Amino acid sequence: MTYGFIGAGNMATAMMKGLLHANVDPADIYVSSPHRAKSLAEELHINAADSQTVIDHSDIVVLAFLPNQLTEIGATLNFTNKIVVSVLAQITIADLNQAIPNAFNVRALPNINSAIGQGNTALAFADNIDAAQNKIVTHFWQLLGNSVTLEEEQFAIFSAIAGSGPAYVFKFIDALTKAGVANGLEETQAASIATQTVLGSASTLNQSDSDAVTLMNSVASPGGSTRAGLDNFEANQFDDVVAKAILATVNHKHA
Ligand SMILES: NC(=O)c1ccc[n+]([C@@H]2O[C@H](COP(=O)([O-])OP(=O)(O)OC[C@H]3O[C@@H](n4cnc5c(N)ncnc54)[C@H](OP(=O)(O)O)[C@@H]3O)[C@@H](O)[C@H]2O)c1
Repeated sequence: MTYGFIGAGNMATAMMKGLLHANVDPADIYVSSPHRAKSLAEELHINAADSQTVIDHSDIVVLAFLPNQLTEIGATLNFTNKIVVSVLAQITIADLNQAIPNAFNVRALPNINSAIGQGNTALAFADNIDAAQNKIVTHFWQLLGNSVTLEEEQFAIFSAIAGSGPAYVFKFIDALTKAGVANGLEETQAASIATQTVLGSASTLNQSDSDAVTLMNSVASPGGSTRAGLDNFEANQFDDVVAKAILATVNHKHA
């Protein structure tokens, strides 16, 4: 299987690194872009080429330029009968079908954790994609972590939780770190302890048959110190703070 990237920015780089992390042969990855592609190709030992060559050599073509370039790039290049996966924010399947009418289009919403094979990606498929093509695309995203097929109307809430969510988790880790420092830990040590705690807890939950609340209660015995902390979260309406932040994210209008 060969993978082509039109665009060599942050998202394309994260995805290419994820493919290499999943042991994809660098010779099977192609990239094009006006400036960065060549040096990135040298750094990652992948192939740089012009965009049409990238398309022609690839089984899956990833669109990773800026959303406002879709119409122009769609009109200049030939994507006929290619599986095209767009990561362009806000660009719908209808937009893709209009700009690239002769392809098999997929809308994807990845997150930054794709670079280490721990991504979380929402997928929506154009109607002309058959079961075999669906399987190829799903397998591609599984190389980069998890994927879930959603209705396009659900992309906004997915984006708030999985796309913006890493920033909110980093914020929680930073808050734990600051509390550690305020109570006598050295900063790097506090950051390391907080990070490993979040990492280990997420892994425990992921490997468990229990839900988050059950595991939370298993850590917090009645009358104990953890319960005192949880009561404090409750008194400060922690769930409400998170719910409002997610709503603000979903309702944010792009400039
Ligand atoms: N960053 C994220 O976390 C994230 C998450 C989800 C979705 N996305 C989506 O991913 C897309 C890329 O975002 P980004 O953050 O990676 O942006 P970026 O870092 O600005 O990268 C944009 C890339 O497009 C390339 N480009 C410009 N004109 C081109 C052309 N005519 N042909 C081929 N490539 C061209 C640029 O090339 P040069 O570098 O050579 O100038 C650059 O590598 C956007 O549509 C965004 O909505 C990003």
